[in-house]
Amino acid sequence: MLVDDLKTFLGTSYAYFTKAWGFHWNVEGTNFGELHDFFAKVYEDTQDSIDKTAEFIRTTDEYAPGSLERFQELSQIAGQIKIPRSRLMLTELLADTQTMIDLSKQLFQSAQQEGREDIANFAAERQESHGKYAWQMTSYLKEARE
Ligand SMILES: [Fe+2]
Repeated sequence: MLVDDLKTFLGTSYAYFTKAWGFHWNVEGTNFGELHDFFAKVYEDTQDSIDKTAEFIRTTDEYAPGSLERFQELSQIAGQIKIPRSRLMLTELLADTQTMIDLSKQLFQSAQQEGREDIANFAAERQESHGKYAWQMTSYLKEARE
């Protein structure tokens, strides 16, 4: 059901946002400046989408989950309580980004099935954003060609 997909998207986006924000704070190394800014871009964009997702839930006449406990129950990605090295941060967030892409596609399909083109457009935009982040993280992780 569309509203269930929206709730899953909300909880997972919250976990993803929190992880990117933590990585923004704690990243270290020679790429510090670039990665600090990159993780900021990811969490700021995701934060904006969280509000939109919750408000879409309200347009279905259901209440939006609004607690860390509920977000954790709903999230499809695990949190990170340790401080990984920058390369592991990228590897982990890349895998989570793939989950965000998969959830965006699922949301797009259920929105279309229920005639909610507004939500389908939003889901397509999320797929585009996360697709860009996946490309950028993959590029960071690749060894430079000689
Ligand atoms: Fe900051």
